Amino acid sequence: MLSIAAAGGAAALGYASVIERNWFVLRQVTVPVLAPGAAPVRLLHISDAHLTPGRHRLMSWIRSLDALDPHLVVNTGDSIAHPESVGLLLDSFGPLLERPGVFVFGSNDLYAPKPKNPARYLWRTSSREYRRNVPNLPWEKLRDGMTDAGWLDANNRRGRVSAGGLDIAVAGVHDSHVRRDRYDLVAGQADPAADLRLGLMHSPEPRLLDRFATDGYDLLLAGHTHGGQLCLPVYGTLVTNCGIDRPRARGLHRHPAGSDGPWLHVSAGLGTSPWAPYRFACRPEASLLTLVPR
Ligand SMILES: [Fe+2]
Repeated sequence: MLSIAAAGGAAALGYASVIERNWFVLRQVTVPVLAPGAAPVRLLHISDAHLTPGRHRLMSWIRSLDALDPHLVVNTGDSIAHPESVGLLLDSFGPLLERPGVFVFGSNDLYAPKPKNPARYLWRTSSREYRRNVPNLPWEKLRDGMTDAGWLDANNRRGRVSAGGLDIAVAGVHDSHVRRDRYDLVAGQADPAADLRLGLMHSPEPRLLDRFATDGYDLLLAGHTHGGQLCLPVYGTLVTNCGIDRPRARGLHRHPAGSDGPWLHVSAGLGTSPWAPYRFACRPEASLLTLVPR
């Protein structure tokens, strides 16, 4: 009996690390967030690539996303997981960098991953691991690679982007998971004259979502959760690794849940920590949001 259970466990682990982890999916959603009469706008949301050298399938899949012809690219962080990944990531973005883009960072853009029990996140948050550390990944190089291409750095900053004929007011915060978020630096009513008000964060913490909602943002984008990463069929997400509730750990919802407040889209992300290289019932993803009139 034990040997059957062990064989089943090994098969599930093999599936989760070899097959599902490389079984990328493009999730497509329509978001009725634009003014009446506006033309549809394609927004590509990427997050949590956690790129390490050697992940050729992931790199070529990211590169293929340019064929979607997005008007705007949004990267909600945790792009790298190795000091030598910046060039590889920028290379994978390739022609996407020639498009309008916006980004915020996650903790993993700053701190190299450490060996750990891969299942530990199921019972405790990872936020404490970073608190006393000094960044040891080349996040400035990553930032410069994206800003040199014209992408807007929205880490505790506001800005403006023109994409798909829209004038978009953007505000973002750095990662709350490592207490680098400074919402007060971007606080204040979002410009009502803009065509769209976009709020960005890595980790979808309710206290941040509340503030973006109060300030009048229309669409909030986040990553970080990996959709739970190890999920149960039917039941879905087990843990979110932050304050968001399980049903909103991935996909399109409202904030607060069930209200007519801003739309919240949480990406389940493209990758995993190299020390927890598994995904189960939660395929790695990028998302194409088609923004249409309300
Ligand atoms: Fe992540």
